[in-house]
Amino acid sequence: MEIGTIYLVGAGPGDPDLLTVRAARLIERAEVIVHDGLVSRDILAMARPDAQLISVAKQRSKHTLPQDQINALLVREAKAGRDVVRLKGGDPLIFGRGGEEAEDARAAGVAVEIVPGISAANGAAAAAQIALTHRDASSVVSFVAGQCKGLSDQDWTGLAGKGRTLVIYMGVKTAPQIAEKLMADGLAPDMPLAVVENAARPEMRVLRGPLAALPDLVTREAVKSPALIVIGEVTAREDAAIAHFAVEAHQ
Ligand SMILES: C[S@@+](CC[C@H](N)C(=O)[O-])C[C@H]1O[C@@H](n2cnc3c(N)ncnc32)[C@H](O)[C@@H]1O
Repeated sequence: MEIGTIYLVGAGPGDPDLLTVRAARLIERAEVIVHDGLVSRDILAMARPDAQLISVAKQRSKHTLPQDQINALLVREAKAGRDVVRLKGGDPLIFGRGGEEAEDARAAGVAVEIVPGISAANGAAAAAQIALTHRDASSVVSFVAGQCKGLSDQDWTGLAGKGRTLVIYMGVKTAPQIAEKLMADGLAPDMPLAVVENAARPEMRVLRGPLAALPDLVTREAVKSPALIVIGEVTAREDAAIAHFAVEAHQ
């Protein structure tokens, strides 16, 4: 029996129109799809009616299936002769543990193909019309993870500030510690930021304010995951704000 292939596929931020053509083709023809909670229903609806959909959705404090068991599941399916589409929100190689899944598959002698996706940062930037880099405002962009584990050990010095953009994934729950950490690193309390919730989805919200007000903003507006925090002058450019109002006005 021939061993199947594991396809690590990026599903983008949620809108099926933002899938790559390769991702859409793989989803449409897959026999087995192993997917995360961030993959939208509209995208899962593209699967064949007889496809087996296996959810390994994780919540921040609760793992329905530990990562090593997910890796083992992928290998088992491939060794049973099936091609497996491992579908992940955004891009599989940005805070998606795609690297670990690929390493385990290769070690087990299973072929892996990786199909990139539009990461939440790119999806949010486009949908909220925030230029992550801008000739007049930012020439550096960094992606960091704001989840609790290891937050205080992470060195973010120099990643945010004048001429730079910092995009924080998984930072909703730790917003107060994030604001404190950045200000302790010398970032001005009035540094502008935007919180983009449900980017590139119909229910998207873009909330803006200064760094010092981040914890209040998140609490007052009851921001929920998935959301990104984008910090830097690019979030306060008048053209970005006006473009966003124009989009809202037409909805
Ligand atoms: C485990 S990470 C996965 C990132 C994903 N691999 C990517 O490239 O976008 C999950 C985090 O991505 C961010 N995220 C994913 N989809 C999002 C969306 N549609 N809008 C805003 N943030 C999103 C949130 O910060 C969420 O907590």
